[in-house]
Amino acid sequence: MSSPEDRSKEAAARAAVGRVEPGMRVALGTGSTAARAIAALAERFPGAEQISCVASSRASEALALRHGLTVGPLREGDEFAVMIDGADEVAPDLDLTKGGGGALFREKLLARHTRELVIAVDPSKLVPRLGSRSAVPIEIVPFARPLLLARLRAAGLAPALRTTPEGGPWITDNGNEILDLRLPAERDPRAVDRELHDLTGVIETGLFLGLADRVIIGRPDGGVEERLAFRGRADVSSSRHPNP
Ligand code: A5P
Repeated sequence: MSSPEDRSKEAAARAAVGRVEPGMRVALGTGSTAARAIAALAERFPGAEQISCVASSRASEALALRHGLTVGPLREGDEFAVMIDGADEVAPDLDLTKGGGGALFREKLLARHTRELVIAVDPSKLVPRLGSRSAVPIEIVPFARPLLLARLRAAGLAPALRTTPEGGPWITDNGNEILDLRLPAERDPRAVDRELHDLTGVIETGLFLGLADRVIIGRPDGGVEERLAFRGRADVSSSRHPNP
């Protein structure tokens, strides 16, 4: 018997897949919700030719290939019609924290080259402010770690190296490390994001600000709520759909 959270993720992922049409180039996210979307995509588009995909992690690529989807590397000038991904936190203005699964660099790269970023979440991901539920991960060059740790501690961001169960550094698909940061309530995520990007050795942050176009919040009964953002503006519109 699946948990209410699982059912919510499934509902959100299935609704997100509804944004994809035959012939589209699709970017695939990473994580347990994105994995459900990959399975639902393969179900909706059987036969490898109908859509073509690029995945934001080796894990998602392997999963998509197992499901029979066409997945390959980035092409020069690539642009995606839709990207479907999960998130760790969704703020009221649809700003996000991502990277709990460590794929934040590739996720952000693909998201920035996507016309519609569709985020599928269960309701536990809705937060009043970024940083209230999750850490903010950053991907860093391992060589820079000692210097970055000192700078980030001094900046009040309480960096913690992400580690494996064996205790070594957790290594990303790009051969880098992850630091998980605490975002204090009084700090503006945009200012912190700029500050982080100014530090040599920081490759990317898990703050996805102004990137999500559509957030789909699944419910355990199979229904969903959709929130739409208008890029560059804080407006959010909302609609609810009952269990299909
Ligand atoms: C992966 O790096 C993350 O950005 C995920 O999208 C995020 O952690 C959400 O994961 P779940 O869908 O597993 O909750």
